[in-house]
Amino acid sequence: MKGLILSGGKGTRLRPLTFTQAKQLVPVANKPVLFYGIEALHEAGIRDIGIIVGDTKDEIRDAVGDGSRWGISVTYIEQDEPLGLAHAVKIARDFLQDTPFVMYLGDNILKSGITSLVQEFEEEKPNSLILLTEVPNPHMFGVAELEDGRVVNLVEKPKDPPSNLALVGVYMFDNNIFEAIDAIEPSWRNELEITDAIQYLVKNGYEVRSHMVTGWWKDTGKIEDILDANRLILETLTQKIEGDVDADSRTNGPVVIEKGASVTNSIIRGPAIIGKNTQIQDSYIGPFTSIQKDCLVCQTEIEHSIVLEGSEIREVGSRIDESLIGRGVKIFKCPPKPSVYRFIVGDQSEIGIK
Ligand code: TTP
Repeated sequence: MKGLILSGGKGTRLRPLTFTQAKQLVPVANKPVLFYGIEALHEAGIRDIGIIVGDTKDEIRDAVGDGSRWGISVTYIEQDEPLGLAHAVKIARDFLQDTPFVMYLGDNILKSGITSLVQEFEEEKPNSLILLTEVPNPHMFGVAELEDGRVVNLVEKPKDPPSNLALVGVYMFDNNIFEAIDAIEPSWRNELEITDAIQYLVKNGYEVRSHMVTGWWKDTGKIEDILDANRLILETLTQKIEGDVDADSRTNGPVVIEKGASVTNSIIRGPAIIGKNTQIQDSYIGPFTSIQKDCLVCQTEIEHSIVLEGSEIREVGSRIDESLIGRGVKIFKCPPKPSVYRFIVGDQSEIGIK
């Protein structure tokens, strides 16, 4: 089997972060979201992976390289415009040839991985296998209708959803998907929809299996989802202290302090991760917080948040909570003291607080 990871798209829902950064490279527990997908495919035994790239192609290439770090081979496939998930498959035809493949959305994370599903697909050879999960808001997803466990209908973002079963961002196909994609028309939003292509397979007698996701699944397309994914991944953290923690500091619970990081007169409550060469001084870093490399946090309380590389947060005084702070951001305090701040701030911002 081959792998096809979709890492193009616009990322409009993640602005302002995605004005300056590919959404698939936003870190969750200090690792780019995209790497979780690559690792899931690798774990399932897939070594030949195509990555669809759009406007952020250079950044994705710089981060992933040729794949040798994971022992995989990576082929980049350029999509000039994000014309839909099925369009991405269509332009990958030369790479995929007639090999069955897993299509994986580059901003998705699945706790349980995909190894057993890939095995089932390889052994039993249905034409397609899709993953489903129950959601409270099905009108925002591709939705499947089942009869006796068989997929009988699929619709993309329906106004009147036939069920609460949403498609999760991992799909398996054999080469019949190309016939389906050639047969469908762009949708109202001018995208070739993968749900329409799978619906074609269903209607034309091809076998489309479905599985319910076990464990959690996160589409990190929105800020809240990134913070959630960060929390879920940090829950699995194991303690590793490679940086310096001075005698006036305390760490509780699972905490990772990467090489070159220093913690002075501070409390770090795990699960939390402090990136390489980051300095934490006279601060409280609360649970479910990831601070990337080369940051400075001084006289500040921060919880349930992500701080991207090269940012400085000084003397904020009150607690920062549920925030996603971009790269190279500066946040500093001017008196008097406010109570609580919540920040969703793009890269390179500077915020002076009164
Ligand atoms: P989406 O999250 O559906 O789309 P998007 O990235 O354009 O985001 P937004 O809705 O916030 O503007 O895409 C899911 C994944 O598939 C994501 O990793 C981007 C990728 N993708 C492509 O590679 N090509 C495409 O044509 C589309 C639509 C998405």
